[in-house]
Amino acid sequence: MEKLWAGRSSGSVDPTADDFNSSIRVDSRMIEEDIKGSVAHAAMLGAKGIIPADDAESIVSALGSILDDIKSGALEIDPRAEDVHTFAESVLTERIGDAGKKLHTARSRNDQVAVDTRLYLKKEAKTILDLVYELISTVRDRAVENKETVMPGYTHLQRAQPISFGHHLMAYAMMLTRDADRIADAVKRMDFSPLGACALAGTTFDTDRFMTAESLGFTAPTANSVDSVSDRDFCLELMSALSILMMHLSRFSEEIVLWSSFEFRYIELDDAFSTGSSIMPQKKNPDMAELVRGKTGRVYGDLLSLLVTMKSLPLAYNKDMQEDKEATFDAFDTAKVCLSVFTPMIKTMKVRADRMLDAAKGGFITATDLADLLAKSGVPFRTAYKITGEIVSYCIKENITLDGIPLEKYREFCPAFDESLYAVIDPAEAMKKRTSYGGTSPDSVDAQAEYIDAFLASRK
Ligand code: ARG
Repeated sequence: MEKLWAGRSSGSVDPTADDFNSSIRVDSRMIEEDIKGSVAHAAMLGAKGIIPADDAESIVSALGSILDDIKSGALEIDPRAEDVHTFAESVLTERIGDAGKKLHTARSRNDQVAVDTRLYLKKEAKTILDLVYELISTVRDRAVENKETVMPGYTHLQRAQPISFGHHLMAYAMMLTRDADRIADAVKRMDFSPLGACALAGTTFDTDRFMTAESLGFTAPTANSVDSVSDRDFCLELMSALSILMMHLSRFSEEIVLWSSFEFRYIELDDAFSTGSSIMPQKKNPDMAELVRGKTGRVYGDLLSLLVTMKSLPLAYNKDMQEDKEATFDAFDTAKVCLSVFTPMIKTMKVRADRMLDAAKGGFITATDLADLLAKSGVPFRTAYKITGEIVSYCIKENITLDGIPLEKYREFCPAFDESLYAVIDPAEAMKKRTSYGGTSPDSVDAQAEYIDAFLASRK
């Protein structure tokens, strides 16, 4: 295939070098965006009289049929093409001859690839956002359903205080709202059109970049042509947001793995979202959660890879930057597939409230409540803390739980104790009483659900 840039050089590149240089395998997925960008550009060239109006019209209509043919399968993308931009332009010229050769007036592949990538990532970000919203709403529903399901809350992975499983799940819903907003915010910042920045310096043609920016649905054109073709911060920003999202999913996954272990048995994954072992007939493995946890590393890798590629690159365009798409697309593909599996896995998991309650009853997780009770009756908290510590150590010695100590014995530890202590040390009661704003009480979980509902209503 003849190079579009043959002229100054012969354009006959060593086959291995040619293949090495090509990005078509990666960027062919931007064909629709490439054609849309070219349509906007050609229409502007025609409107401004930079090329004859009838040439602009035939370019626009030929590009439309090229896109139709790609979609119908009548036209296949040539894997030997240098990139998606050269492929589209050469097909155009094959089809309409000299008029096609006018398309690249006042444009360079440098601004072209920048506009294609932004258009493509805007679309992808919307898909990801919808998946995140769906996950938020699923987690919210499971949380409300479990607002009275008592479990031990953990710090240091040691049983700490009673919370509801719903409250624990809501923590993830909240994290996911910020993930969604980070992505949406990155999109806002990238929503400017670099088209017309040309190679790096702008052009002597009387172009209208506002017109192309508007017709492509951007907020405005970018304000500096060198910046427009030099930076890939929008890829990095989106990948950072995806990395944080994946970090949240990896923590959630880790808990799914733990909770579904025989030792915990807090949840049981649906058969549709777990696997068996080829040798151990008793096994039910949480592969999906493990894979999401594992793929998080891959998304971090994509971010790191582009950060390192961009480090110290002089302005403006450098071919190194062609590496941007493989990393960015992989991060998006990975996050998308993880979300697509994660949401139904959460939707279908069975919750073992009995197991959670049993665990909440052991481990003295209401010791803080006991100390708080004494503090409320006037014992200084530090003293109350010490007395309760002694009670716990007595229980451990006697191999009993807090509710196994008779009142007289409690009174030996501190005369301020009365009958009311038994309600206080009940994990379910202790959970329900944490009514402080943002606490674990069922009413608070309902309030959090309202917050999530308002969030989803305003973002969708
Ligand atoms: N395939 C190239 C990329 O993705 C397109 C831009 C090429 N620009 C150039 N000056 N060679 O970066």
